[in-house]
Amino acid sequence: MSPAAPVLAIDGPSGAGKGTISRAVAKMRGWHYLDSGAIYRSLAIAVARDKVSLDDERAIVQVANHLDLAFRCDDQLIVLLDGEDITDRIQSESCGNDASKIAAYGSVREALLHKQRAFQQPPGLVADGRDMGTVVFPQAEYKIFLTASSNVRAERRYKQLKGKGIDVSLKRIRSELEERDRRDTARSHAPLVKADDAVLIDTSEMTIEEVIKRVVEVVSG
Ligand code: DC
Repeated sequence: MSPAAPVLAIDGPSGAGKGTISRAVAKMRGWHYLDSGAIYRSLAIAVARDKVSLDDERAIVQVANHLDLAFRCDDQLIVLLDGEDITDRIQSESCGNDASKIAAYGSVREALLHKQRAFQQPPGLVADGRDMGTVVFPQAEYKIFLTASSNVRAERRYKQLKGKGIDVSLKRIRSELEERDRRDTARSHAPLVKADDAVLIDTSEMTIEEVIKRVVEVVSG
């Protein structure tokens, strides 16, 4: 880890646009990109593969300790688990929900800390997640808390899935998203919360371009 590499931490609830915005800003700046949610999602896939129960915290930590993950960033983030491309599998709602469940265990979060911190490399890092500015990179130079109403977030997610040809119901998406928000916010270990020194951006009424512009303003001072 290079202490010299600046970090832009972007936290917020599911569907606030963190991934799109983080990737765009990382590309503009030529910085590295950490999708910490993809790490939790990949762990959920590995846990299912190893037939470990989502209730078995100790066994999940073992899986986390041996997690062989590689990320490749093209236009899209490519995720390899033990060399196998799991990019598509980690996109599903059920994978996100399983990730949220195992992410509630403090010892699991602890096991994944160094993997996330290893992304802090020159010339800089855009880190996207729930606890980037509070726990993983509390010293981050720039912190943003990106949010939007649950209606807007559910609609965005719905359109995204429909666009991929996946048949889903808006009502179900909204209720799963709200349940995930509740779990991620209520957990005792590294809950989803705005860091005191983070800049709040509500993207409900903003276009992607407007959000990117605002984030770039924050980073440029
Ligand atoms: O950002 P995402 O939807 O891909 O994340 C999936 C789940 O992983 C999320 O509901 C909670 C968990 N997560 C977390 O606890 N901490 C992070 N930094 C990122 C994700």
